Amino acid sequence: MMYFSMSLSNPFEDLFLLFDKLSKNLALIKQEFVQIYDGHSHIQEILPMSSSDSFPIIDKHLGLLHNFAEKNPIYYNFYEQKINDILCRVYEGDINEHWLNSIKHGSSCQPFYPTWILSAYIAVSIAKSFDCKELVDIGSGDGRIAYCAKILDLKATSIEIDDGLVELQKTISVATNVNFNPTCVDAIEFDYSSLKLKSPVFFIGGLPQMGGDILATNIIEKISTTNLKNNTCIVFAGTHSQRQLSGNYSNGGWSALIEKHGLNVMETVSLPTIWTFDQPVDTPYIFTKFN
Ligand SMILES: C[S@@+](CC[C@H](N)C(=O)[O-])C[C@H]1O[C@@H](n2cnc3c(N)ncnc32)[C@H](O)[C@@H]1O
Repeated sequence: MMYFSMSLSNPFEDLFLLFDKLSKNLALIKQEFVQIYDGHSHIQEILPMSSSDSFPIIDKHLGLLHNFAEKNPIYYNFYEQKINDILCRVYEGDINEHWLNSIKHGSSCQPFYPTWILSAYIAVSIAKSFDCKELVDIGSGDGRIAYCAKILDLKATSIEIDDGLVELQKTISVATNVNFNPTCVDAIEFDYSSLKLKSPVFFIGGLPQMGGDILATNIIEKISTTNLKNNTCIVFAGTHSQRQLSGNYSNGGWSALIEKHGLNVMETVSLPTIWTFDQPVDTPYIFTKFN
């Protein structure tokens, strides 16, 4: 992939080392940031200002990630700060109102909590390395995963049940001039064949124990009778917190569903999210494909 400012001698192997390095370095600066952060905002996240050895992401893409945050009304403040020698911008925001609205829908499977923007970028880059050409974010919140898909040249669809969040996505889409296809619909009702997908990756926007399993099962049942199944990746957001899981700890809590539907785990990376900000371990993203 030419989105990273380093040369790759063995592109496939080197890419996985690169993703490992990016996720570990992000976890490191997140831990340092948690120690030094003295603000009081409801949510906060960081983005490096420029490409570096620790984050060899091309400046054009880093600029587009900053643009997503700058044009996103959930953030009301930002400032620059060096964290572990990396100059970053800290974004502070509030999602209370959207969170409350997102739980009022009868078939809502998970309230709105976003992945960090750089985490979304790394996760989508990994999906792209598996040759996925289209990305469907199921329960997309403010659309950051679909936004990253679009800037990484995937065909993006952003499925969200809450109309307020979809309006927010449209505002960001217009302001950034990146159309990641915000779609206001209940993911359980949606007819995915209308997207004419060929080799998609579905990101499931919910933890297994909080309703993500309902979203995932629905998608799997819809595609498992079609040829699409052979070319489909599914990415699950899990949890390392054993307190939240009743005895089912492996694969971030997704192992029962993964086994039941014959999925292969191809990669797992831990990435910071808003909901793990104050936790020592981040959110595991589990990349799977059908056997
Ligand atoms: C944890 S958030 C994840 C947001 C985004 N994927 C991310 O990682 O930043 C889950 C989102 O799923 C949405 N959602 C829940 N149930 C849904 C459903 N049945 N159809 C579509 N969206 C749904 C919620 O409104 C919420 O915005």
